[in-house]
Amino acid sequence: TKPFDYLIVGAGLWGCVFAHQAVKHGKKTLVVDRRGHIGGNTYCENVEGINVHKYGAHIFHTNDKPIWDFVNSFVEFNRYTNSPIANFKGELYNLPFNMNTFYSLWKVKTPEEARAKIAEQVRQADITDPQNLEEQAISLVGTDIYHKLIKGYTEKQWGRKATELPSFIIKRLPVRFTYDNNYFNDKYQGIPIGGYNKLSEGLLEGSEVRLGTDYFANRKELEALAETVVYTGKIDEYFDFRFGSLEYRSLRFEHQLLDQENFQGNAVVNYTEAEVPYTRIIEHKHFEFGTQPKTVVTYEYPQEWTQGAEPYYPINDTRNDEVFRKYKELAENESNVIFGGRLAEYRYYDMHQVIGSALKRTKVLFQS
Ligand code: FDA
Repeated sequence: TKPFDYLIVGAGLWGCVFAHQAVKHGKKTLVVDRRGHIGGNTYCENVEGINVHKYGAHIFHTNDKPIWDFVNSFVEFNRYTNSPIANFKGELYNLPFNMNTFYSLWKVKTPEEARAKIAEQVRQADITDPQNLEEQAISLVGTDIYHKLIKGYTEKQWGRKATELPSFIIKRLPVRFTYDNNYFNDKYQGIPIGGYNKLSEGLLEGSEVRLGTDYFANRKELEALAETVVYTGKIDEYFDFRFGSLEYRSLRFEHQLLDQENFQGNAVVNYTEAEVPYTRIIEHKHFEFGTQPKTVVTYEYPQEWTQGAEPYYPINDTRNDEVFRKYKELAENESNVIFGGRLAEYRYYDMHQVIGSALKRTKVLFQS
């Protein structure tokens, strides 16, 4: 018999939750990650007492009470509410689109006036069958919101003109006729007090962890150690890219430590004009109501993805979904390997979804 029941490739949330549930059921688990830390993309680096979200802002939100209780059993979450600000050519607007936004745009004060304004712009645009993202957005919220708050941001995000993007990217645009800047509609949201690492550390209690360890570079030796492999890396990489690469959108983060207490007064400020090359600036201390004398800000630049760059957002278009389907078929026939997480499933998962997915899988496996 081998020393471990499970070799878990990837110490991101999916791998961590799997490890935790396996240990709970008396299994021996070895977790490896090619990075030098656990937590995957939720990893925080402590700089001057501030938890810096190294791979982009992570705000936990869910409607699922058992998932909320689960994460809170490892670390207490604070009452942070995501309420981003949009900066368009120096003018500030509240997000998501709500009465505060409409007041700033048009000085309208009642929901009725706001509804009428949007309806009038939608009517004037007279788009019945939207052919691209631009037409789709205008047909939903009118020209002002589109031009000031959607167009530039979306074009930067995707690296393409909105008129060249398919309309299905935007199915609906939430418009709220109350003075409520809370970005999420979920019942629960917050940030782990002391950062996300406490969550991944808690989940990995009882597991052996090897960092800086690439599964592919040590495959034979690692597989000899465990009965079953749990793989949370990229699915195309697992199968040696035999059907070609799955494509992603990438990001570049520029972190700056500033010798001032408060740079922008909010954790998230989006820059919605095309001329500013970054999409947003994150000021990390505000996630935890920090009072440190310095501050850390991160500029987020969307990037073309090339092989070897960090894969952030899957591009679920027809071509990629078709390629993924072929890999998925291989994965289903791979014995003694469990595939899970955002990279193996080639889909965008929020944290609560990734936790839910791992819990569901382990529930079936361990029957509890
Ligand atoms: P994750 O990528 O975290 O972990 C996979 C791990 O596997 C990595 O650590 C990788 O190094 C390792 N690995 C891969 N191949 C390997 C190999 N061959 N050998 C060894 N190790 C290997 N969600 C949310 O709820 N609220 C939010 O605000 C945000 N914000 C956000 C911002 C940005 C920019 C992104 C890209 C994503 C978010 N998310 C989010 C989503 C969140 O990051 C996501 O749900 C989880 O991190 C997914 O966890 P996984 O374990 O699936 O992958």
